[in-house]
Amino acid sequence: MKVFVTGSTGLLGSTLLRLASPKYILGASYNINKLVPNISCTYYHVDITDQQLVQNAFRKFNPGVVIHTAALATPDYCDKHQDEAWLVNVEGTKNIINACKKQNSILVYVTTNGVYNGKNPPYDENSIPKPIDFYGKTKHEGEKLVQNSGIPFIIMRLITMYGWNNPKERQNPVTWLLYILGKNKTPVNMVNDMYNNFLFVESAAEAIWKAINKRKIGESFNIAGKDCISRYDFSKEIARVFGLDKSMIYPVTSDFFKNFVPRPKNTCFDTGKMKKILNVNPLSIKNGLTLMKKNNLAHDIWREIV
Ligand SMILES: NC(=O)c1ccc[n+]([C@@H]2O[C@H](COP(=O)([O-])OP(=O)(O)OC[C@H]3O[C@@H](n4cnc5c(N)ncnc54)[C@H](OP(=O)(O)O)[C@@H]3O)[C@@H](O)[C@H]2O)c1
Repeated sequence: MKVFVTGSTGLLGSTLLRLASPKYILGASYNINKLVPNISCTYYHVDITDQQLVQNAFRKFNPGVVIHTAALATPDYCDKHQDEAWLVNVEGTKNIINACKKQNSILVYVTTNGVYNGKNPPYDENSIPKPIDFYGKTKHEGEKLVQNSGIPFIIMRLITMYGWNNPKERQNPVTWLLYILGKNKTPVNMVNDMYNNFLFVESAAEAIWKAINKRKIGESFNIAGKDCISRYDFSKEIARVFGLDKSMIYPVTSDFFKNFVPRPKNTCFDTGKMKKILNVNPLSIKNGLTLMKKNNLAHDIWREIV
């Protein structure tokens, strides 16, 4: 079967490609960043906001399944650049849906814990989305478009992820802390009143590939790790596993960060359906971080597209 991944340079897209079974023929798109995973895959240069580029790539590759990970996913950036965030996350998703329709492809739409308001955890697949920030609104809009599209789809709702990101892409809670504490030795303030069951990106990829293998068409899944903890406690655990100086991490409440767009306080997921239907066990923070440390990615896994 042929599988096409959008956002191949991103944290999730690159991990999906790296962990794909050899039984799949892979195609993928990149946009501004030209550093892609160095694996057997046909790469296409596609800005997803350009309907024609999306359709051309899909016509050439003819995917059976499309995993749509490409997005603008930083809440503060989306809030400050709302037109751009809407264009990429909503209009871009419309373009992907239309191209899937033309090629009869199954669409796996990747969405976020940011669709919930964080007031009634734990969130399962039947919880009602009520996004509080613009990023969450665009992703919720994408969910609705996919659900009403009439094409075969699977919705994968992921909680905040960590893992080795492409060196040219945005960092995540672990690589950011390794940079700030490990390299720059700068003290950090971390919030102790916002909770997530942080997700190792390789577990997210495992869940997505299993949902595709099991053909869970029309279903949605909330995917997360095991431990529902604050960002402060997560940071202390990162420091412990990676041998950083814990005493440089200070607890603060979220109102300390006056310039950040308000985040949902507690979006911890109920992972019952993920365990039962996909047979994916939620990883503890300790095990996820230990795996990440062990699988430190060498730079030669990346290939520059020229
Ligand atoms: N990271 C998390 O904690 C998290 C949590 C929950 C859900 N999610 C969701 O998971 C998905 C993947 O997130 P991620 O963290 O892996 O993303 P990421 O590392 O920030 O990468 C974003 C990807 O989107 C691509 N992209 C952005 N604008 C594009 C455009 N106009 N046309 C084509 N491609 C474009 C980027 O390509 P270029 O750099 O080449 O432009 C990049 O490959 C997103 O849908 C996000 O909403 C993420």
